[in-house]
Order: sequence, then C-alpha cells, then structure tokens
Amino acid sequence: MKDVLQALHHRLNYYKELGIKHIPKVKKDIMKKNSAHETLEDIRTDIGDCTRCKLHAERTHIVFGEGNPKAKLMFIGEGPGHDEDITGRPFVGRAGQLLTKIIEAMKLKRSDVYIANIVKCRPQNNRAPEADEVAICEGFLHRQIAVIKPKVIVCLGSVAAQNLLKTEKKISALRGNWISLKETPVMPTYHPAFLLRNPNMKKAVWEDMKKVMEFFKKEDNKK
Ligand code: URA
Ligand code: SF4
Repeated sequence: MKDVLQALHHRLNYYKELGIKHIPKVKKDIMKKNSAHETLEDIRTDIGDCTRCKLHAERTHIVFGEGNPKAKLMFIGEGPGHDEDITGRPFVGRAGQLLTKIIEAMKLKRSDVYIANIVKCRPQNNRAPEADEVAICEGFLHRQIAVIKPKVIVCLGSVAAQNLLKTEKKISALRGNWISLKETPVMPTYHPAFLLRNPNMKKAVWEDMKKVMEFFKKEDNKK
C-alpha cells in the first residue's frame, strides 16, 4: 500500500512539474481487465472506436500495434504518423522502413517482435502527444506489455523513453543504458525519424541494439 501511495505521490508531482492542474478522468475500463487471462484482442475490443482523448477527432485509424503476441522484444515509438494513420499499422512510413532494416540487421523479422506506440492515434502535424493524451492512452499500452511480457523493450526516441520511464532526462543521456520498467529491462535509443535527419547517429543506435542482442545471447546461454 505504501508503494502505491508513493507512486501516486510521484505521479502527482510529475504532473505538477509539467504544469498540469487538472488530471483527466481516466475511464475505469482502461485499467479494467488486467487479469492473467487477458488477450491482445480483449484490449483491442476495450479500445473500440475510442474517443477518450482529443486525438480521436482527427484520426483515420487507431494504430493498435502489431507483431508476435509472445515477442521477446518490443519496440515502442511515439505515435502514429501520416502513413500509420492511413494504414492503421505502426511504423510503415519512411521511419518505419528504417526500423524494419534495424530489426533485420538484428537477425530478426518484424513478425518476431511487437511494435507499438505511446499513443494510438495520430497527433496532427506530427506534434508530440500531450501529457493529457498520454495519461489517457498509456493504460492500453501497459496492458499490452503485461500480456506480451517482452524480455526487453526498446524505446524509440525521447517521447517514448520519457513517457514510458517517467523521466525528463534527455534521450542523449538515456540511450545506451539499461533502465528497468518494473521487472523489464528497457533500452532507450534514438528514433528512426531522427536517424533519417542525422544518419551519423545510426552508429549509436547500432551500438544500443548490439547491447540488446548481447542480452538475448546471454539468456540463450543460460538454457
Ligand atoms: N513514428 C512513431 O513514433 N511511430 C510510428 O508508428 C511511426 C512513426
Ligand atoms: Fe483513445 Fe488512445 Fe486514440 Fe486517445 S490516442 S482516442 S485514448 S486510442
């Protein structure tokens, strides 16, 4: 109980630092079924034709996430862009094609991993999702993580890393370092869209992905 209160206290302070005065009412059903028997389909059904946050107004499709429901590795991005909004699939535009290349360089396929985002609807003009939108939507992502139970999560870019890890540290300071989210090791790295603008940073991302590959190699050797 003390942990819960402490977590709540931290969260409220975090909102205060962000200048948020009114905490949006999160409908109870977002957190409803965090049971051992929940499936990804249950979560998708709960989301429905979601209008819980203001991002719903201009979206074309909800981008739920896709991949192996038992993935050992999960990638989390920021939110859908134009191509994702049109297709309803995560990371399918130019940045997505680069992510696919990174996954393949790790000797994996897209279908081996699971790919999702902090928010499921596209923020207009590719602005970052706002704190109230994240606060409302992130419960679904946490339920997806609880169902998939990945061994490792890779956060792509500062928005994903800062929101998932509840930190304000810069991505340049976070990347390349293991940080745990409850029991799950998280590796933050740069966003592939950032790499498209700064190709010289690809080397850093590859260093980070090598750490992830090393983690799995060690896991395999334990067996
Ligand atoms: N950028 C993201 O953060 N997520 C996507 O799904 C596509 C681009
Ligand atoms: Fe619902 Fe999330 Fe879309 Fe907001 S971003 S409308 S909470 S699915």
